[in-house]
Amino acid sequence: MTAPNQTVDASRPNSARVCNVLLGGIDGYELELLVAKPLLDSQLTIAMRKARRFARRAVEHLRNQHQVNQVVELGCGFQLSPDIGEITADASSTARTVYIDNDLLAATHARALLTEPNSVVSEVNLTDVTAVLAEITAVMDSTAPLAVCLSGTAELLADAPAVLHALTSQLRPGTWIVFSHIADDVAGNDISSAVAALGDAGIAFHPRDRDTITAMLAPYRLGAPGLIAPHRWRPTDTAHDTLRPLHPDTWDLAAYAALGQLPH
Ligand SMILES: C[S@@+](CC[C@H](N)C(=O)[O-])C[C@H]1O[C@@H](n2cnc3c(N)ncnc32)[C@H](O)[C@@H]1O
Repeated sequence: MTAPNQTVDASRPNSARVCNVLLGGIDGYELELLVAKPLLDSQLTIAMRKARRFARRAVEHLRNQHQVNQVVELGCGFQLSPDIGEITADASSTARTVYIDNDLLAATHARALLTEPNSVVSEVNLTDVTAVLAEITAVMDSTAPLAVCLSGTAELLADAPAVLHALTSQLRPGTWIVFSHIADDVAGNDISSAVAALGDAGIAFHPRDRDTITAMLAPYRLGAPGLIAPHRWRPTDTAHDTLRPLHPDTWDLAAYAALGQLPH
């Protein structure tokens, strides 16, 4: 079993806090701000923010169009309203959310701020598929639709394709996936220099190309519009898309996003 990070090393930037600052949050301390601030206007940050907006829209779409109000967020990070559970809880008092993060600080923070009923925060390493499935079984109604949200997190896993494959093989037919991933085949040097800066801070980041991401999602039937830059995925279909765009949407982003479902 792979253990979560149960200690806090205050001498190094915390990757969950750096992600939080890049996403527009205020939970970074000096060490994290030193890493994140030079990246705030980068293609990486723009793509990360658009990917989070996509995840909110996709969860809202699942809730409204497919009556899905049970969502597992893999790598939830620090709470940044509106969170996945706030969106699913809008619709139903029976909505359930499992927030998973292996970072002690992110999980503790999420737990402290959690207000949605029927929701839990689990400090679990998502590469431990058995532990993830145990959380799903413990919290979710096995007779109701279920979605897994892997958005903005697979990039932090060296072996993300293998992890997703292992998880997917254990999920029940009909399970949905909300997926986004930073790309290394769109913005070239902009992404590689941001990845290098994160690497210098001890944060391993793994953008992937379209072919790799397509293969990761192969078991899933992708709904329209397919695998696409996150800001182009149903861009107006939301009540929760409250973040102001950083740039006019006239160009492609260094990220891919999709909503998929395992066949019945
Ligand atoms: C970019 S942040 C938040 C992403 C969030 N899903 C979003 O859409 O904004 C990624 C989070 O994934 C978490 N994470 C990274 N590797 C993980 C792992 N192996 N298991 C669980 N969580 C992990 C980090 O701690 C971090 O909080």
